[in-house]
Amino acid sequence: MTDNPIFAVAAKAEALRAQGADVITLAAGEPQAASSTAVVEAAVAAARDPATHHYGTAQGDTALRTLVATMIAGDTRTPWSREDVQIALGAKHALFLAVQALIGAGDEILVAAPGWPGHAEVVTAAGGTPVPVATDERFRLSVEALDRCGTPRTRAVILSSPGNPTGAVHPEPRLRQIADWAERNDVRIISDDIYRAFDYTDTYRSVLAVAPHLRARTVVVGGVSKEHAMTGWRVGWLAAPPEIIASARLHVSRTITHVPTVNQRAALAALGDSTTPVEAARDYRRRRALLVEALNGIDGIECPLPDGGMFAFPDVSGLLRDRGWNSGADLAAWLLDTAHLAVVPGEAFHAPGHIRVCFAVDDDTLITAIERLRTVLGSARNEPAVHHLEAAR
Ligand SMILES: Cc1ncc(COP(=O)(O)O)c(C=O)c1O
Repeated sequence: MTDNPIFAVAAKAEALRAQGADVITLAAGEPQAASSTAVVEAAVAAARDPATHHYGTAQGDTALRTLVATMIAGDTRTPWSREDVQIALGAKHALFLAVQALIGAGDEILVAAPGWPGHAEVVTAAGGTPVPVATDERFRLSVEALDRCGTPRTRAVILSSPGNPTGAVHPEPRLRQIADWAERNDVRIISDDIYRAFDYTDTYRSVLAVAPHLRARTVVVGGVSKEHAMTGWRVGWLAAPPEIIASARLHVSRTITHVPTVNQRAALAALGDSTTPVEAARDYRRRRALLVEALNGIDGIECPLPDGGMFAFPDVSGLLRDRGWNSGADLAAWLLDTAHLAVVPGEAFHAPGHIRVCFAVDDDTLITAIERLRTVLGSARNEPAVHHLEAAR
């Protein structure tokens, strides 16, 4: 059994660090920032409240489900109530709960390639078969590719927009085409909206907002991990039709009983704070420009400006060719050894000629990382990164 390759990079970086190396990691799929003080204080207050010391309900805290439903209703322009929401141990768990509710043994779920490996992993964990669907040149799902990959065993397509690692944002017409395809083929849509706050094109729409009539065949997944820098708190959710929520609730009840109440209270505080995600998006937009410009300044690297998310996903095949390396894994290993810089090889995402570089880190970290990249790989422009950052402010 293989573990997620992203965690493998993190483990190697940690091992180097333990030997005293000054490792910078742009490998993690998470904000480097700490959770907000309001979140931490809500958790402390919750821990002091004896009500949180006892069992809660499997479906999740009522106030949290109510806020989640309101948020999803706003995003999707369709009505959702707290009864339609199940709280999960992060969005990944929510995806698992959705998939296990939808499939029987041998059923297939379509996942984007390149795409986040977690999508395929949850399908496998739920006993299904993940089927990679090659995305188009802008890393978007297309009806042509879905047609090629769909079979009578296809139960759902996981649509993540903005996506990881590509940052691809599916524009309205494309979302409508995918929705029509799902309806025509009697396939469900699992809309993974975890990066909803990080859209730099100002065109983000949740699929239901453009195809509200598909509400009965759509599961909306989200969480506080990315928007609120809360990956460690493990709180996410799904909003779905009643039979899926019933199945998810039963699964939660039979396994984890419920998501820890203190963590749910922390998530409740996060959802009451609309400023943190907006400020994070503003900072990421700026850092994205800086990183992409630096990457494009290195011979053999071509990096499109990602529409959303928190990653640059450069094509490094020119560099691999020049240096006689076989894949992004060779480059990633070399960067870790020579520059003590951790990035994720494209193999993790079905894209061996690429690497994934996270820009959800603070300015100083990003600047140092860019300087190291330029030192070991050379750069067409040798201006210090800090000047670009100042200029972009
Ligand atoms: C596309 C996507 N969905 C879901 C998740 C998981 O989020 P969570 O930490 O809430 O489980 C990730 C994490 O990297 C992700 O990239």
